[in-house]
Amino acid sequence: MGERPIRIIAFLCNWCSYAGADLAGTIRLKHRADVRVIRVPCSGRIDAAFILKAYERGADAVIVGGCHPGDCHYVSGNLSARRRFLVMKQLLEFMGIEPERFEVVWCSAAEGEKWAKIVDDVCERISTLGPFRSYKALTASVLGPGREIVTGEE
Ligand code: FES
Repeated sequence: MGERPIRIIAFLCNWCSYAGADLAGTIRLKHRADVRVIRVPCSGRIDAAFILKAYERGADAVIVGGCHPGDCHYVSGNLSARRRFLVMKQLLEFMGIEPERFEVVWCSAAEGEKWAKIVDDVCERISTLGPFRSYKALTASVLGPGREIVTGEE
């Protein structure tokens, strides 16, 4: 059986980074198509559990995106998110998840080109790293043999 395509989940805030990704599509910028976007109201709404769940369900990498610091439509949601994700990165490393599999970006509604470049860069990096299997192995060891998370592939 061949290697499955990479899967990247992006949690993007509605007002800036989602709009930037939308702009990239509207002006037909070419970028890799391995990213599935989940729109959230604000990066401050992205819970650590969302990210762990994405890995658990087979994501090879997670991108979280929000408005640039100072531009959050809910005043300080992205500042809280920035602090949370700093800790999150360390937690993921502690759990054995390579930091390269987690990307935090600030992207405005006018930065379609930036979004396209982020997607290509992350996809390139993850293609080199290969599919992510450690979280699956970890949950198998916690839940017991035969009870690992089933992602529908492999
Ligand atoms: S609304 Fe975009 S980060 Fe808060």
